[in-house]
Amino acid sequence: MEIVNGFSKLTKEQKINWLTQHYFQNNQNIEELLKSYWNTDEKLQKLHDEFIENTISNFYLPLGIAPNFLINNKMYAVPMAIEESSVVAAASNAAKFWSKRGGFKANVISTEKIGNVHFIFQGSTQKLKQFISHIQPLFRLRTADITRNMEKRGGGILQIDLVDKTAELDNYYQLHATFDTKDSMGANFINSCLEEFANVLREESMKYDDFSEKEKNALQVVMSILSNYVPNCIVRAEVSCDIAELASKEIQNPREFAEQFVQAVQIAEIETYRAVTHNKGIMNGVDAVVLATGNDFRAIEAGVHAFAAKDEKYTSLSHAEIVDDTFRFWMDLPLALGTVGGLTNLHPMVKFAMELLGKPNAEELMQIIAVAGLAQNFAAIKSLTTTGIQQGHMKMHLMNILNQLEATQEERNKVIQYFENQTVSHSAVVNFVENLRNR
Ligand code: MEV
Repeated sequence: MEIVNGFSKLTKEQKINWLTQHYFQNNQNIEELLKSYWNTDEKLQKLHDEFIENTISNFYLPLGIAPNFLINNKMYAVPMAIEESSVVAAASNAAKFWSKRGGFKANVISTEKIGNVHFIFQGSTQKLKQFISHIQPLFRLRTADITRNMEKRGGGILQIDLVDKTAELDNYYQLHATFDTKDSMGANFINSCLEEFANVLREESMKYDDFSEKEKNALQVVMSILSNYVPNCIVRAEVSCDIAELASKEIQNPREFAEQFVQAVQIAEIETYRAVTHNKGIMNGVDAVVLATGNDFRAIEAGVHAFAAKDEKYTSLSHAEIVDDTFRFWMDLPLALGTVGGLTNLHPMVKFAMELLGKPNAEELMQIIAVAGLAQNFAAIKSLTTTGIQQGHMKMHLMNILNQLEATQEERNKVIQYFENQTVSHSAVVNFVENLRNR
């Protein structure tokens, strides 16, 4: 197939035509399918078309609500955008469970964001250090236009340090800059500041008298970019109660439950195979709320997993203990989030999610999202150590299987009734529906 030029300049219709011609043997159903996902409100559709490039349609994810989240004595209904069945149900169950046991506690420990100018310098490290001290005021002066508004909101540049990385890579140094970006995620702000720091570095190094002529040309900026690793932007979420209070319909022996729960967490703390899945379960809750509130889940994912490996071994994000008769379960999570800027002011569903949460600021949203992750993890470990995960999961997945089979309402009713007391598996449902149809 030939390379296509100017694809981005084609209209949406033309793009779809091109696709159907080249990839679908002119199957008109494809066009119909793509158009059936267009929003009938043209203004709304245009808004979505303009979020990214080369749009041809929309890609829906369900938005669910997990109510009864009692966090720091305030009750939330939490919006979750996710495709996986049973995640919202699990979050809702855990939320209700803990709402009757004092609820979740959450507090923000730190809010620092980080960015780096990565550069190469072939010269005296000592002189480089002096040079960086010398130009420190210029970093701030030259970014004054960028930082003015942020400073009005109480944020800005915190510190700019030179880091010598030459032991790991020849001639490699960094400017390691820290920022407070208040309620914005701050990516644009940080990157703009960093690019200006890089300009200062480049320009001033050429003029710095203490550098030899060779050193004046020896500073080469490689790149300037924020880091999604934010180990100093941390929120803690936790629950605790008397072991006896854990008793419920499903937990008949609370001490045994608590002990097994702690063991399951300990396994995730020492065993990477388990830790990754354990943390994936946490991210089911985290990502769903991150997405619903218009934040960047890739950034969050990258940062969280780096944090889980910060002590050189990938480990569980959450921890649990029994002290005397108290069960405690908690997690520290790095979350760089925004509640202003980005999609938050643009996407109508994000606006809805924010309003539902009572228009939280970034710190409050950090607390809500960390709690959603902890709740998800609690629900997963509770299922895993008691009934096993498949019972609940397959029940929820039943609807997907019925949709795949294009089951009628009558068939659905019969299937749901039959599987009320039976283990759901894909083949068992297929067999049951086939039997119904062959009768
Ligand atoms: C499935 O999406 C998530 C779980 O595997 C998490 C876990 O094992 O803890 C259930």
